Amino acid sequence: MTTHEPKLTRRGFITLINRVLAATGVAAVIGPVVAFFWPAKLEEVPSEPLPVGDQGSIPEGQAKTIRYGRYPAIILNTPERGLVAYSAVCTHFACIVKWNPDSGMIECPCHEGYFDPLDGSVISGPPPEPLGVININIQAGTIFIGGDA
Ligand code: FES
Repeated sequence: MTTHEPKLTRRGFITLINRVLAATGVAAVIGPVVAFFWPAKLEEVPSEPLPVGDQGSIPEGQAKTIRYGRYPAIILNTPERGLVAYSAVCTHFACIVKWNPDSGMIECPCHEGYFDPLDGSVISGPPPEPLGVININIQAGTIFIGGDA
């Protein structure tokens, strides 16, 4: 006759759950402390020109948003000026702006801020300043932004 003894008793299971929850709680407290003292190494703005893609990778009338240091940048291919690049951070309350090909404007979804794609200036809405202009250049068929581009 065989008896079936459970490998994990009820008490053992509860102890295991308690330990997992305790470890999760400790990690939740220690994680932010570690992140504060040893933050990820993200430059505010890259010191070197940043490659965006091949010269033809952004068709006319289209845009691309990429990480530019700590914040995103938006690169547009305008029919009037060709490639232009701006900080994608709205100057109102720092929402991320987006290109709207239908309206032909850079739009901030948070409070209906609208920016001119040709120079980043404010068309309407609450943003107090234009978008930050980022240098743009093409070297050997590759688009670069920032640095001395
Ligand atoms: Fe962009 Fe308010 S954050 S309009």
